[in-house]
Amino acid sequence: QNKNFLSSDNIITFTGNDGRLMALKPDVTLSIVKNTKTDETRKVYYNESVFRTDRNSGEYEEIKQLGLEYIGGDGRESEAEILSLAAASLRVIGAGVIDVSHMGFIEAIMAQFRDQEIYDAVYTALRNKSSHMMKQVLESISADEAMIESMTQLAELSGSFSEVLSKAYTLSKAIPCALQSLDELSNLYEILEDELKSMLRLDFSILNDVAYYNGIIFQGFLKGISKPVISGGRYDNLMTRFKKTNKAIGFALYLDELERVNVVSENSDTPCDDWLNIALPKGRMGDDVITLFEKSGLLTDLSKKEIEGSRRLVFGDKESRIRLLMVKPGDVDSYVQYGTADIGIVGRDTLVENNLDVLELSDLKLGCCRLIVAAKDDYIEDTTRPLRVATKYPSVSRSHYAKKSRQVEIIELKGSVELAPLTGLADVIVDIVETGTTLKENNLVAVEEIMSSSARLIANRAAYRFKNPAILRILKGLERVI
Ligand code: PRP
Repeated sequence: QNKNFLSSDNIITFTGNDGRLMALKPDVTLSIVKNTKTDETRKVYYNESVFRTDRNSGEYEEIKQLGLEYIGGDGRESEAEILSLAAASLRVIGAGVIDVSHMGFIEAIMAQFRDQEIYDAVYTALRNKSSHMMKQVLESISADEAMIESMTQLAELSGSFSEVLSKAYTLSKAIPCALQSLDELSNLYEILEDELKSMLRLDFSILNDVAYYNGIIFQGFLKGISKPVISGGRYDNLMTRFKKTNKAIGFALYLDELERVNVVSENSDTPCDDWLNIALPKGRMGDDVITLFEKSGLLTDLSKKEIEGSRRLVFGDKESRIRLLMVKPGDVDSYVQYGTADIGIVGRDTLVENNLDVLELSDLKLGCCRLIVAAKDDYIEDTTRPLRVATKYPSVSRSHYAKKSRQVEIIELKGSVELAPLTGLADVIVDIVETGTTLKENNLVAVEEIMSSSARLIANRAAYRFKNPAILRILKGLERVI
């Protein structure tokens, strides 16, 4: 029960000796709330381990959390107190910022979308700061131009609290409930101390589950650490679900994140610095990407010729303080998620396959291709047995066939996938097709399209906060020439 309150839905469970289902504690807040008497006011803190399964690797994780809850905390004074404690916690460790959002505001915005599929797509576009994705979804439902314009701008909003707040007022003026939440944010900001104000940002890509959180929510970031280290907010709705009448707000600090500080350098002896690290895909798409960079004038010292004619993997452009990391196309998003690269360029096919947690800032409209199912031109499917699928995209393939309730046997290959049906290794392939030459020359035909793909500019969530001007310069520079 109440599993959606957790940021990860993977709970480690096992069967006890007496046959009962047991679980390793995935969270502390839930048990504090459960054991609070209704109407009781308590301020509690904890320093405990929680256990979860890592979303990508599937590994079991012990996460050390330090947290506090203000049960009975109502009104802006309690929010100011919690925020100032979060800020003080960050200051003990290093240079940090706190990004604030408001679930009431998000809920009011999202209430415009009733269809679940559209709701999910708009939610993802907000969460990933993808104005291109937002535009595409809203165009698909023939939304009017004013709505498309305000929602795409909303997805991009990020920055100093007061500046973003005034823009948000303008963009949501047609939604009265949203304005009410912005008033709450504005009233809260008024009573904050200057030191705290200087650490606050406003960004509506910070999202939590509306069934549990209602008022302000926030995340804390530290320079050099790729993920948020603090996560918190007002969770009156959770209290209601537990039949408690009091309100509550709190946060947790993830101590294990503090062990991973990123250091990257051109000569591996320079410390972490203010250069912008960009992961670029080697190979076919990489050539187009370098051309785009050259055309945009973003590189000053480096030339396309110099990069293409070399086997080096790191290139520094001193003048523009940019460092290019040349990586395998399928690895770009890993470098970005872990913060070794601040931003990167990667195909949508890879993004969907790897399902990593990064911001998707722009569609660069190059490397356009389709992810398809292909088979020999005379292939007839035997539906009495599982379909054998050879692919470089096991995850996309699995979910594609799961949706159709078709049993499959996935054979993961690293390349030259077209050979598999020709040699009898597989019945079909799931692969990308660009010009169609490879399929044609091997007597294969596309039988189904799964999705279209093109190059996306992605960013690490923490780098987006600390290197925002440099990232926006690249984003605008590339968008000017696409
Ligand atoms: C990709 C893909 C197809 C081919 C399609 O392979 O896996 O094999 O390109 O392109 P086309 O439609 O223009 O012929 P890639 O070149 O990346 O090499 P790989 O097979 O070694 O992965």
